[in-house]
Amino acid sequence: MNVLAKKPAPQIEKVKDHVGAIITGVDLTKPMDAETFKTVYDALLENVAIVIRGNVLTPAQYQAAAEQFGELMEDQNRMYLVDGHPLISVLSNRHKASDGKPAKIANNATWHTDHTNQECPPKFTMLYAVELPDTGGGTAVCNMRDAYEALPEDIREKIVDMKTENTLISSARMASANPDIVKVQKASTKPPTVQPLVRTHPETGTKSIWFHKSKTERVIGMEPQETQDFLEDLLEKSIKPEFHFVHEWQVGDMLIIDNRSTMHKAGFDFDKSQHRHLHRILVRGDRPS
Ligand SMILES: [Fe+2]
Repeated sequence: MNVLAKKPAPQIEKVKDHVGAIITGVDLTKPMDAETFKTVYDALLENVAIVIRGNVLTPAQYQAAAEQFGELMEDQNRMYLVDGHPLISVLSNRHKASDGKPAKIANNATWHTDHTNQECPPKFTMLYAVELPDTGGGTAVCNMRDAYEALPEDIREKIVDMKTENTLISSARMASANPDIVKVQKASTKPPTVQPLVRTHPETGTKSIWFHKSKTERVIGMEPQETQDFLEDLLEKSIKPEFHFVHEWQVGDMLIIDNRSTMHKAGFDFDKSQHRHLHRILVRGDRPS
């Protein structure tokens, strides 16, 4: 082997001006060197979501790749985990709820960010494609930093200091939720977690709209249904085509989403007789402010 052979540099191709980049030429089966990691990390912060393409990874290799980005945290839903890998959860259209019926996954089909009911939600959500339908089932990511900046000033001023109260599932969304989640929420005595509606990115200092409608019991000062209507209206005003993209998956893609400046949603526009099977890892984040 020629030890002087130059390793391939990462190739970065932007998806859109405001959001997304596809990165090839990165071998995730071994640790990235410092220079490669910085290139990848900078691309992540700039483009708010990146796809590292072309790696066939075992769960252990995927977890090792993820750990380079920070301390991992458990998915709060402990029902669907990879055997022997409690920090990797399984996203699948074949999940069953504990009553044996197909699990409801509708709450992931709307724009959201993950685990807002926790004091320190994940800064990065990572998804790795194991098995895919022939077409559809893409994951959409929106740059909520640029979406916020593009709002009229009067709306930005109105929302910038708003706070949300977050629970595992909001009362307004219980009817459409997985019964296992509803049961946990109804038994919970934990007070809602107060989060900013517009959060400041701890590394870049930029502001982003940031919420999970299904977990928002109320915007402080509003009633629950009024809150749902207000947040839906805010999504309509802020999410514009130039700010989001749908990642059309290839097996072996590792999507990394910077949750501090994005919202995302899963796509269910595929043949449900086929299997959409992703592995999710969460990287612990700071207390949002
Ligand atoms: Fe999510």
